[in-house]
Amino acid sequence: MKKILLAAGCLSLLFACNSRGSSKKKEAAKEPQSATEAVFDNNDYHTLSNADEVLGKHLALDIEVDFKQHRIAGTATWDIEKKKAGADKFIVDTRELLIDSIKYGDGTKADFELGEADSILGAPLSISLKPETKQVKIFYRSTKNATALQWLEPAQTFGKKEPFLYTQSESIHARSWIPVQDGPGVRYTYNAKVKVPKGLMALMSAENPQALSDDGIYNFKMDMPIPAYLMALAVGDIKFQAIDKRTGVYAEPAMLAKAHKEFEDVGAMVHKAEELYGPYRWGRYDILVLPSGFPIGGMENPKLTFCTPTILAGDKSLVNLIAHELAHNWSGNLVTNQTWNDFWLNEGFTIYFERRIMESMMGKDYADMLWEIGYQDLEAIVADLGKESEDTHLRLNLKGRNPDEGLTDIPYEKGGHLLRLIEQTVGRSKMDAFLTKYFNENAFKTMNTRDFTEYLNKNLLNEVTEWKAKVNINEWLYAPGIPQTCPRADKLRFNKVDTATAQFLKGDMSFSQKTGKWSTFEWMHFLRKLSKTPLSPEQMKALDQAFQLTQTQNSEKADLWYLLALKNKYEPAYPAMEAFLMVTGREKFLQPLYKEMMATAEGNKMARTIYKKARPNYHPLTQRVIDEIVK
Ligand code: BES
Ligand code: ZN
Repeated sequence: MKKILLAAGCLSLLFACNSRGSSKKKEAAKEPQSATEAVFDNNDYHTLSNADEVLGKHLALDIEVDFKQHRIAGTATWDIEKKKAGADKFIVDTRELLIDSIKYGDGTKADFELGEADSILGAPLSISLKPETKQVKIFYRSTKNATALQWLEPAQTFGKKEPFLYTQSESIHARSWIPVQDGPGVRYTYNAKVKVPKGLMALMSAENPQALSDDGIYNFKMDMPIPAYLMALAVGDIKFQAIDKRTGVYAEPAMLAKAHKEFEDVGAMVHKAEELYGPYRWGRYDILVLPSGFPIGGMENPKLTFCTPTILAGDKSLVNLIAHELAHNWSGNLVTNQTWNDFWLNEGFTIYFERRIMESMMGKDYADMLWEIGYQDLEAIVADLGKESEDTHLRLNLKGRNPDEGLTDIPYEKGGHLLRLIEQTVGRSKMDAFLTKYFNENAFKTMNTRDFTEYLNKNLLNEVTEWKAKVNINEWLYAPGIPQTCPRADKLRFNKVDTATAQFLKGDMSFSQKTGKWSTFEWMHFLRKLSKTPLSPEQMKALDQAFQLTQTQNSEKADLWYLLALKNKYEPAYPAMEAFLMVTGREKFLQPLYKEMMATAEGNKMARTIYKKARPNYHPLTQRVIDEIVK
């Protein structure tokens, strides 16, 4: 399954692989002198802002969304708090923003300077402060190069009638649509007034409307402090349908009924999550299903998870993605990684929590499949990056690099498996009590890897002498590869799949009687196994006839089947694969398929032809990634 980047191993997701830029060092920060010191260096090198001196505490946004110009324009008014006496500058991050003017709260003009742009970090906007300044109002516009924004033409939506806009701010893209102190360690509250064309709905990571406004103006409020990467906006022909009192679904009208059916158990899911780790603190939990260009699986925007339509399989078999985004409302949104080097504290915890939710809804044998698929992904990414690679440490070192390079299966799966090892060491009840306490005591705060280790020892591992040695957390955090102690799930259900695979390879199709009950994950395991052996045209045909794989509506199965088709030159699947590439923007599916095509001369031609047609449907950053593959 997975994560963004996946199997193919390129660390991109949203960004060009291995883009190394000239990101400037922060002057104020003390430079680490050695490798050990670098490990304990908790400065955020991915923001040029000065939140430690002057903090933007509350944002009032007043913007208009212009679909003709592909532009967001308006004002960002910041209430500031001086943390350091005498501080005379408020510095926010920007990327490709046009700053028209800046005023103080009293309406007088403020001096400012837009610094030189760094290729990764963007340009710092430094605003002069007077001793009495409490507020600054920035008049600004976004540009065509905004990395957070995807503007969709009507033809790229399900309804085909209205345009659509959405943002994806994680990790450092909020600065391309809002002048903001854009580091995960900085939190603020916000309210917003957003004007959109009449007839369209606007939604944010905030309290949301459930019906259209007559004048196209929407007001939002988020009164719990959040980091900038959780700023989100979507505008389009969107309707709402309730699931229960506090949960519901937003989607284009053409998708709403399907989405509602798929997610009808999400109300119960929120209760399961609460039973595990304490109350859901964000009020409503709604889901927005985006048009198919959405480049990732899901994004945990507070109060409103954004998700890809590719999880609408029709049988609820991919809702673990919703469990994942829901879990982030504890791990990530409540307790937030301090810098992108600590990304595993967001994603590893969330993988663990996601699988606990799925276990409580579907049973242990089901969750074990998720763990095993995840373990396979972990092996694949370690093989890809190299087992000595520093990028396989849990604690990353992304200084001077694009933080999206850290977005591999390492923080997800190595992180998730570390928590599972801790659980297996101390027992489930102690683990759960610890996590509940951790979320409560650190709610609305940030956490770094070193402080977490201390917290873990103090509140859990110190209790029994052997525990610390057994977990040996430093090996997980600061050493490469997969530790020997990495837990492995029971393979109850996958053993049956392995038997079926062996039968199939011997020409015995009798196993097909038993696949009726297979979940998506059994199919994934089956198709992954088959990808390790060359298959004849007859074998491919037999599979396709027995299981209609070319026509499957399940995106995970489709992706693996088309990969198998390419590997074995099974041409009857090509038209369906092309159709899939035309309507899917999710990078984790696109990357491996284009890569596989580019591996052969005939495939090369096919890749170019398809990509030429499909490219406009992809997110601008996905286009950059696929451009690199289909040169
Ligand atoms: N927060 C991530 C998405 C993300 C991370 C976007 C970093 C940009 C930068 C989200 O929670 C996530 O992990 N999504 C996965 C879901 C999967 C693990 C179930 C995805 O989109 O594939
Ligand atoms: Zn996540």
